[in-house]
Amino acid sequence: MPRIAYVNGRYVKHSDAMVHVEDRGFQFADGVYEVCEVRHGFIVDLTRHLDRLGRSLGELQIAWPMSRGALTNVIRETLRRNHVHNGLFYLQVTRGVARRDHVFPAAGTRPSIVVTAKSTDPSVIAAKNAKGIKAITVPDNRWDRVDIKTVGLLPNALARQKAKEEGAQEAIFIDTDGMVKEGAATNVWIVDTQGTLVTRPSEHGILRGITRTTLIDVAGTLGLPVTERFFSVEEMMNAREVFITAATSICFPVVSIDGRTIANGHPGTVSQNIREAFFDVAEKTAI
Ligand code: PDD
Repeated sequence: MPRIAYVNGRYVKHSDAMVHVEDRGFQFADGVYEVCEVRHGFIVDLTRHLDRLGRSLGELQIAWPMSRGALTNVIRETLRRNHVHNGLFYLQVTRGVARRDHVFPAAGTRPSIVVTAKSTDPSVIAAKNAKGIKAITVPDNRWDRVDIKTVGLLPNALARQKAKEEGAQEAIFIDTDGMVKEGAATNVWIVDTQGTLVTRPSEHGILRGITRTTLIDVAGTLGLPVTERFFSVEEMMNAREVFITAATSICFPVVSIDGRTIANGHPGTVSQNIREAFFDVAEKTAI
């Protein structure tokens, strides 16, 4: 069965899915994106993902490529055409196609829109959860508007590559004060020595992850205390648990950072309990 992508108004074979060479996403990373999980035939937290898309577009003064309702229909249709039951969709909107010039193109230039979808194997995610993952720390060398979910991800890609070369699966960005920011494609959490769930405030140099937001709701239903505050690398190394969150992986336990074992080196119970409760709390939209 061929994969199908939606590109600027048409459903095309994935292998034929193209954007123009002068698309501003290609030339300037002048675009935004969302990645959203699909689980058991339901889109997870669609409302929050579309809300964040709207915020990202607004911050960059890019127009919605179509109405929110129409976009939801395109997402659903792309998922249906790819027979996704468990997996994800990827959505990207750029400022559109224009002769190369740093300043914005003429008003009325149509934003480009691409939606792709793919199936994932839940057993691969389950295996990672059972074992936990390894991470490294890296200095944060990104711009200061990482709260906007732009496609300008070169520092993130380089950090993930470095992690891979060092036998780890995630790189954790650290600020100049030695405080933990977030992962290359995840938010970072600890369970501190008091048993409180801690994550960095989203106003300060991180992306406000949708999984992060829903996880705060999940913690509420489980009666787990949550604090949004800064925490240092040292505090993370000595935490009861460390885990990372993102759509499609929910929460992966981190059992080693920079070669140092976290707690007893095994996934903790708090992240497991949260993972098990997550889909009961998250919003589910039928495909
Ligand atoms: N990444 N921080 C960064 C830098 C991210 O790229 C992501 C998501 C997150 C978690 O956000 P959410 O919970 O909304 O997925 C935090 C996606 C999955 C990606 O780039 O593939």
